[in-house]
Formats: sequence, structure tokens, C-alpha cells
Amino acid sequence: MVAAVADVDALLGLAAELAREAGRLLLAEAPDRADDVATKSSRTDMVTAVDVASEALIVGAIERERPDDGVLGEEGSNREGTTGVRWIIDPLDGTTNYLYGFPMFAVSIAAEVDGQVEAGAVFHPSLDELFTARRGKGARCNGEPINVSGHDDLSTALVGTGFAYDADMRRRQGRWLEHVLPSVRDIRRGGAAALDLCWVACGRLDGFYEAGLAPWDFAAGDLIAREAGAETSDFDGGPVRSGSVLAASPRIASALRALVAEAATS
Ligand code: IPD
Ligand code: CA
Ligand code: CA
Repeated sequence: MVAAVADVDALLGLAAELAREAGRLLLAEAPDRADDVATKSSRTDMVTAVDVASEALIVGAIERERPDDGVLGEEGSNREGTTGVRWIIDPLDGTTNYLYGFPMFAVSIAAEVDGQVEAGAVFHPSLDELFTARRGKGARCNGEPINVSGHDDLSTALVGTGFAYDADMRRRQGRWLEHVLPSVRDIRRGGAAALDLCWVACGRLDGFYEAGLAPWDFAAGDLIAREAGAETSDFDGGPVRSGSVLAASPRIASALRALVAEAATS
């Protein structure tokens, strides 16, 4: 059962507050690339003490405020709850950027109720931008309503994408890119999927696609993009549940989906 209206507002409020708080932590810390880094799924998949500290901050606060909720966090938090609410957390999206001093990194927190994402917050500390959405209530940046670009021509669309950490997957993604690049205005690889989705939401990108994403990468950003008017799906046009995510301004969404599908099968 979906939580009462006031409850979902409270979930969004908590997500926003914690995303800002964790974002301040990211700005305050400056990990050393040589000393403070471990790797996860591959040599290119880095994790810092700050990723872990940010998740501890967020999950600790959720446990204090809402001890019976479930939690799924990238850095290992995984707890079943009893309330129907589950928090999906990327405590630092864009770790590679963060470590190299590129400003595209963010904190992403979504609140799912009975399996459906109802509220999401993505905070981009470098620009002090907080993206938020509640299902059915639109998307905002720093409290102001945002909308997709409305672009209607794929050949002049600015499209974001990203690459997985797995080398074989990257090889495939490189081949897809070769197919997509000549058919669009240009490609951007921002390095933080949650922000890519928010940038589709506010029209800085006309579309975005990436395969191999995890729920914490897209749960909040997918809701924000949809609530801003984007069409979002997996590469086959189904709901975004698996790891492939495509989000675009509605008038180019099906053309971009067809192009990416063609690329993935070519
Ligand atoms: C990564 C970023 C990146 C995307 C990768 C993600 P992380 O998340 O979102 O843009 O291309 O697929 O894994 O590891 O920085 O949290
Ligand atoms: Ca991520
Ligand atoms: Ca992360």
C-alpha cells in the first residue's frame, strides 16, 4: 500500500536533507588518489573512504529516523524492512570524477514504497543544485519546476552516455557509440549517471542512454527525468528495471531507442 500523502512528502524531505548533508561531506573531504583508493569489480572501479563515509552518514540517519525501513546502498548496505519503504542510495555517484577533481559527482537517494519509486533526490554539490521529484507531482531543481528540452530532431540532439567498469562491456559500448555518434549532434560522457538523468530532466541534455547501470545509479534520476517530462525505458522500451536505461525528450525518445537498439544488435 502506498504510504499516505504526507508520508511521501516526509520521505522526499528526508531524502533531500540527507543528500545535501552527504554532499557537504563530499566537498569537505579531499581523498588522495594514491593513498585512499581501493577497487571493486575491476581495476577501474574505484571506491574511496569518502564513498563509505557518505553511505554511513545517510544510512545511519535513516536508521535513527525510520528504523524499520529497508535500505539498499552501493557500498554494501542491504537490509529488508517491514514498512514497505526501501531507500536506494548511491552515496557518491561519479567517484572517478571526484578523485580527479572533475566537478560532476553527486549523491542520489530514492525512496521506494512497495516496489515503486515515489520520491527521489539528487544533490550536485559543485553547483549547489538539488534535483527532486515526487511521483505524479513534477520535478524541481532547487525548488523550481524543471522540464525536458522538448527537442524534436535526433540529428541535432545532445546525448549523454556512460560506460561500465567491465572491459568486455566497454568494448561493446564503444562499438555502439561508433554507431550512435554520427547520427546525433554530439555525445557527452559526464561520468555520473544520476546527474546525466537530472540533466535530461532540466534540458541540458536531450537524451541519455547507458547499459549496465545498478538501481542506485538510476532510481532517483529516472523518477526526476520522468517527472520533468522525459520518456524513460530500458533499451527495449520496457520499464527501467534492468540495467539498461534510456531517457529522452519525448519527441526524440523512440528514434534514440531505435538507434541504440540498432547499435546494440549491429
Ligand atoms: C558510475 C557513474 C558513471 C557510469 C557508471 C557508474 P559510480 O557510478 O554513474 O557515470 O558510467 O556506469 O557505475 O561508480 O561513480 O558510483
Ligand atoms: Ca553510481
Ligand atoms: Ca557510487
